[in-house]
Amino acid sequence: MTDVKIDVTKLEGFVKREAIYAYEQQLVLHQGVLLNKTGAGSDFLGWISLPDEITDSLLASIEADACEIAAKADIYVVIGIGGSYLGARAVIEALQHNFSPLLSKPERKAPLVVYAGNNISEDYLADLLQVLDKYDYAMTVISKSGTTTEPAIAFRILRRHMEQKYGRAEAGKRIIAITDKSKGALKELAVAEGYKTYVVPDDVGGRYSVLTPVGLLPIAVAGFDIRSLVDGARRMKAVLTVKKTLDENPAFMYAAARNALYASGKPVEIMVNYQPSLLYITEWWKQLYGESEGKQNRGIFPAGVSFTTDLHSMGQYIQEGLRVIFETVLSIENPAKTVKVPESAEDSDGLNFVAGKTLHEVNRQAELGTLLAHVDGNVPNIVIRLPRITEDTIGQLLYFYMFACALSGYLLGVNPFDQPGVEAYKKNMFALLGKPGFEKMTEELKKRLD
Ligand code: PA5
Repeated sequence: MTDVKIDVTKLEGFVKREAIYAYEQQLVLHQGVLLNKTGAGSDFLGWISLPDEITDSLLASIEADACEIAAKADIYVVIGIGGSYLGARAVIEALQHNFSPLLSKPERKAPLVVYAGNNISEDYLADLLQVLDKYDYAMTVISKSGTTTEPAIAFRILRRHMEQKYGRAEAGKRIIAITDKSKGALKELAVAEGYKTYVVPDDVGGRYSVLTPVGLLPIAVAGFDIRSLVDGARRMKAVLTVKKTLDENPAFMYAAARNALYASGKPVEIMVNYQPSLLYITEWWKQLYGESEGKQNRGIFPAGVSFTTDLHSMGQYIQEGLRVIFETVLSIENPAKTVKVPESAEDSDGLNFVAGKTLHEVNRQAELGTLLAHVDGNVPNIVIRLPRITEDTIGQLLYFYMFACALSGYLLGVNPFDQPGVEAYKKNMFALLGKPGFEKMTEELKKRLD
């Protein structure tokens, strides 16, 4: 049994139950293809067995590094982009205090985690440098290829800052690199400077790497229980890799439901959450599904909203705009904390009818009311239920999303483990920046921009 439950009852009237269950046999085949590594992208299936293969010594080493970093740093900078960034941020933001930056020690037991190398904004990095002038910090640079431009630029700048602040020898002790085991510019630099390193396994692509040191080290530094996260993923794996029916296998059900909706003319999936802390789970999910499925002129477009916030912005479009949308609600059944609406003698806002209720009860009715309103507006809704947000349930959820994504990609007939399309912008950027070897392209692009 897992804690992730898929409810497809609000697809009635949009897709027939038989249309969803019709995928079952294909899913059994694709499950076998994944486990036997006989399908497209089979060189990148290392993530499937990761939860069982993570060794105690790797976890212990990560925990020891996390303790050391916590002892000497107030701020911990994670440099990375895409799959080398989003998994860690998704888990940390889901689990941490909503106002973590405003807490100081001892209320916040771990260093404040901040991110760099996930954009090229000059103002962003200048602001970060200003903060890092004032605080003790450590950093981890993550790049599987070791050559990605955004993190490489950020690391060049931050390394210089750190060396000037602490001296080269101490800076070398405050930097950990997570990269390929033997190749790439980052690996070479790490060897030359004597940085501690962790390896991104060859057979795990960026967006499937959250259960490698790429995700685990930052999550541990942020003070969370990585053993429980991995245990959750392991429990989910035990179900998803074995069960062969839609009713028993939540990844089968989710993959089948979203493909049935896609086939019925709904090419846009909006992931909905009612907890601001889940915003980056949605961002990670968007990358996972968008990069895995959006190719060969097909794929479901993954979008995200945070309700009830976005009911006051995107809510209008979802209710009455182009009818190409379905929603998937990530519904959290129990909050970790309690706040009640107080009674008011004047009742000037007319809200005494909710006095005494917890905010969760109010949020829950908003969720149920929205679900029905959107279904009435011809937006089918899948609901993914999770009892609560903990390391264990998030570990389950991450593995569920990854396995379902692989199955769903195979149902769509694409390779869910490559990303050929991301090269196009890089080539243009290099040409426009005058990278040696790109001269002809530079000329052509500049003409087009004149
Ligand atoms: O999922 C992916 O493969 C990408 O999002 C990569 O993770 C991202 O481009 C960063 O690559 P790298 O880790 O090589 O710097």
